[in-house]
Amino acid sequence: MTQTLLLARDAGVERVSKSATDLRKIAVLISGSGSNLQALIDAQAKGELGHAAIDFVLSNRAAAYGLQRAQLAGIATEVLALKTFCDGDITPDKRLAFDAHLAAVLNAKVSDLIVCAGWMHIFSHAFLSAVHAPVINLHPALPGQFAGAHGIDDAYAAWQAGQITHTGCMVHEVIEKIDAGHVIATQTVPCLVGDTLNDLKQRMHVAEHALIVRAVRGYCETMRRVGS
Ligand code: GRF
Repeated sequence: MTQTLLLARDAGVERVSKSATDLRKIAVLISGSGSNLQALIDAQAKGELGHAAIDFVLSNRAAAYGLQRAQLAGIATEVLALKTFCDGDITPDKRLAFDAHLAAVLNAKVSDLIVCAGWMHIFSHAFLSAVHAPVINLHPALPGQFAGAHGIDDAYAAWQAGQITHTGCMVHEVIEKIDAGHVIATQTVPCLVGDTLNDLKQRMHVAEHALIVRAVRGYCETMRRVGS
């Protein structure tokens, strides 16, 4: 089936054919609620994900609610948990073997892009050197700020200490250094007088949901233009 869409480009507007082969298949990696996955699913349903199509969802936690979101949307899912893989005994060697296995599973899916959306597992060299598709990550802080699992809490504390006036979120290419790598898109988020931590978290999540859609759409459009 062939769809058409209008793309405003440079000086003019041209009609571009979007066939099934023109779509970029994306795998989304989750660990929890999956609200960012839901933002991608909703955008795709509304035709707002451009040339990206969610093909596969992988969770490292069996209880992740995001798995249900994916299944409701008819997307194939799989669970690969480090503890289960290691038979309850996590050693550095088994961790590397797990990462190599993760890469093999994702390579077998032949995805064009891997999107970490609330994925709480740090990739080692064993994964990054073996995986074929580019890997991008959503992080709830601006480049160079508040790396790690508590980006929003750390920003809130910094704001309360008078060190920042705003925070934000970014999507970046994944490298071994945590929450670093080439930045694809950012969105600033203000800290407002009277904010509770929960207020800031809610404002951040709204920003993240818009950002991840914008970043995935833009990244896949760039891949399409350069023919990768
Ligand atoms: C998001 O804030 C993400 O940036 C962070 O974990 C949260 C996951 O949210 N790393 P969800 O699972 O997409 O709802």
